[in-house]
Amino acid sequence: MNSRFYLSLMLISSLVLMAFLAIAFNREMTPVWKDYQTEYKETLIKNAKDDGTRERAEKIQVGLQQIYIKALNKSDRCTSCHAGVENPLMAAAEVPYKQHSGNYLKNHPLPKFGCTLCHRGQGRALNIAEAHGEEHQHWDFPIVPAKYIQSSCASCHDYKMLETEGGEKVAKGEKLFREKGCLGCHKLNGVGGALGKDIAGIANKAYYYFSMAAVVGERNMYSWIKQHFDDPRKIVPESQMRAFLTDEEADLLTTYMLTFRTDEMPRSYRLIKNIDKVATDGKSMYTAYCSACHSDGKTSVYDEIFARTIPAIRNPSFLKTISNSELKRIVKEGRKGTQMTAWKSEAAGLTEKQIDEIVKYVAKDRPSEKSRPFNVAKIKSDIERGAEIYNNRCALCHGEEGKGGENLLGMTLRDSALSPEFIAITVRDGRKGTPMVPFGNGGIGLSNQEIADTVAYVKNLTNDKK
Ligand code: HEC
Ligand code: HEC
Ligand code: HEC
Ligand code: HEC
Ligand code: HEC
Ligand code: HEC
Repeated sequence: MNSRFYLSLMLISSLVLMAFLAIAFNREMTPVWKDYQTEYKETLIKNAKDDGTRERAEKIQVGLQQIYIKALNKSDRCTSCHAGVENPLMAAAEVPYKQHSGNYLKNHPLPKFGCTLCHRGQGRALNIAEAHGEEHQHWDFPIVPAKYIQSSCASCHDYKMLETEGGEKVAKGEKLFREKGCLGCHKLNGVGGALGKDIAGIANKAYYYFSMAAVVGERNMYSWIKQHFDDPRKIVPESQMRAFLTDEEADLLTTYMLTFRTDEMPRSYRLIKNIDKVATDGKSMYTAYCSACHSDGKTSVYDEIFARTIPAIRNPSFLKTISNSELKRIVKEGRKGTQMTAWKSEAAGLTEKQIDEIVKYVAKDRPSEKSRPFNVAKIKSDIERGAEIYNNRCALCHGEEGKGGENLLGMTLRDSALSPEFIAITVRDGRKGTPMVPFGNGGIGLSNQEIADTVAYVKNLTNDKK
């Protein structure tokens, strides 16, 4: 009884197993790509205008198609479905039967280039979801949406050529990256600010690198980068990124970001006609490294995200009080504890010469008439009196003991290299167009003695604590 039961159980289960195998086998024998190829062949036969064409079409062998790229040890099987990419008779057909648009395949012969060098996706896969990498479980790098596909061209071509030969979007993206001051916070090839991340390799990050929680629509690298540009804080809530972009600019920059792949092409795959030159004049460098925060430098703004004031560094009343060498020192050293990066070569990677050029540009509209001197050293000052004035008049904006801090209008006054004279003149004359009003006779009415006392107190803070 017992053995009979087991015997029939075995029989049934092997029958079930065989049924499954048969289904699987059948599926393997008629995969989707076969349907596409059969359809492709039948369309050619149906549309044949003469016997020769028909005969050739009838000879087409339906079978797995593969482009093996020896130099890269890569196999692209995309043509198993995209059968008509090289057939001019399929110019008006639908994808995947369609002839490839443009001159792309003429300029890049299939046996050498395949498809995924331009499109990404998973070359060996034979069903749509896996080949296109639609879901991240299959592949981290889905086929690139058409609007960003020019990003691939930059793996092998220079921007100057791309500008005029089919890569105008990615070339524009590269320019925008400088014009929008992204380098103020991001390093590229070791040069740039420190607030944001180095973006090298961003286009080769795995799916799980990106926090997809707030991404709408398809959740992949492409959507993340674009939507992060649209609204950085929607995607990364604590982000301090500043990016003010139109929709078109965000698309162009997304295209540019997607060029940061780590899979370098071998030399024989690159066609570099020009060396891409980066402008190193003061104005271009100011735009690239400083403008994201300081804009044109003419107006100071209180920034809600930084929770502090971004000062107007090209404000004439600031320039009148500061020399180029003092400016240079601030630029080189930055301001600790604020978003103002140290730009010296050991930190943000700018050379002495580059910083000199930037400083020259910042100071180029310095008024010829200098600030009236203020000889603080000549006045015998009283630090305690200064502390009192400071606490009554200045602490509200510059914080307790000159520490500055978040949510205050004024900055730290503890930058130890601010000279007593610079502080005294700033307090006496103020800075036009900013909340820093003149505290001297032309304004609030503090006497030179009172100002000198305050300066002594402020300088004493830095001397003590640093
Ligand atoms: C199993 C069949 C199949 C394979 C394999 C396949 N594709 Fe496709 N592909 C299609 C079909 C069908 C469409 C049109 C419908 C769609 O977009 O899903 C398409 C559409 C596309 C499009 C146009 C998408 C758009 O939004 O306009 C591109 C680009 C593409 N495939 C590239 C590739 C690349 C690159 C590969 C190889 C990595 C590949 N395909 C492999 C079937 C396939
Ligand atoms: C040199 C880069 C390059 C290579 C190689 C390449 N493509 Fe494309 N492909 C493009 C570009 C660029 C477009 C967008 C064309 C446009 O919108 O004008 C495109 C568009 C497409 C489309 C959308 C329909 C169309 O024709 O516009 C499909 C499908 C496609 N490619 C499939 C393939 C397949 C399959 C291969 C490999 C056999 C391949 N491509 C190889 C660059 C390339
Ligand atoms: C994997 C590297 C690679 C990619 C990606 C690539 N190209 Fe090319 N391209 C080449 C090489 C190499 C040549 C020279 C032809 C050859 O070697 O067969 C070439 C040739 C060309 C030519 C012909 C110009 C000439 O002087 O011969 C044009 C135009 C061109 N590419 C534009 C593009 C555009 C636009 C894209 C992006 C859609 C692109 N390429 C993507 C490597 C690439
Ligand atoms: C004020 C500084 C600042 C500026 C200017 C700025 N960013 Fe950012 N960026 C950040 C910070 C901080 C992060 C990290 C937090 C986040 O993901 O939003 C970041 C993140 C990014 C990321 C994601 C990097 C990664 O690996 O996750 C990209 C891509 C990016 N920025 C590109 C740009 C581009 C392009 C521009 C110019 C339009 C730009 N940023 C301007 C500060 C900045
Ligand atoms: C990520 C934003 C950011 C970038 C990029 C940036 N700065 Fe600043 N900068 C600031 C902030 C914020 C302050 C105010 C710091 C403080 O509170 O002390 C500041 C302060 C300064 C000051 C001192 C002004 C004063 O009133 O004492 C100078 C000078 C300056 N920056 C020059 C530059 C130059 C030149 C560049 C480009 C090479 C640059 N900054 C790039 C944010 C930035
Ligand atoms: C209403 C707010 C406010 C008050 C009150 C105020 N300041 Fe300022 N102070 C500012 C702002 C804002 C700036 C930056 C101006 C700019 O954007 O260029 C500044 C700049 C300065 C600077 C230049 C610092 C630098 O790094 O360039 C000094 C020095 C200074 N203040 C000292 C004082 C002293 C001393 C007092 C009191 C007598 C005082 N401030 C009162 C808002 C204030």
